Amino acid sequence: MLSIAIGSDHAGYPLKEKIKDFLISKGYKVIDFGAQSKDSTDYPLFARDVCLSIQKDEAQMGILVCGTGIGMSITANKFKGIRAALCLNEYMARMSRKHNNANVLCLGDRIVGDDLALSIVEAWLSTGFEGGRHERRIKLIEEIEDML
Ligand code: RB5
Repeated sequence: MLSIAIGSDHAGYPLKEKIKDFLISKGYKVIDFGAQSKDSTDYPLFARDVCLSIQKDEAQMGILVCGTGIGMSITANKFKGIRAALCLNEYMARMSRKHNNANVLCLGDRIVGDDLALSIVEAWLSTGFEGGRHERRIKLIEEIEDML
């Protein structure tokens, strides 16, 4: 079973906890990098820890939650090999896996309700990468990463 690294700031903490319970109930191994409360904190710290754990292959996928999901996605996409997708619905979640092979899902606690968020998580985890022409595009992203 996959290991999934999760993280949030204070704004994403309530949804992050619900996602953690959901993932555990589905049998995933969850590595929780915090936050552990609603006390104000800084989202880049948690995006960093989740992405580093994927780079080290401790986790194969990551889920990050902040107020909008925007700060998490901006930060996560700075990391080599990380393809973070901010998804607002199940269609975006499925397409981010099929076409972009996203390995990090970003969600906004202030944007999506809990039920929709869990449905997005389920769609994201149950969809695979299609490969083919999309593989060539991922390789181009990797070439760009190597230029940085
Ligand atoms: C925190 O107020 C908020 O700025 C943060 O959770 C996130 O939405 C940033 O992108």
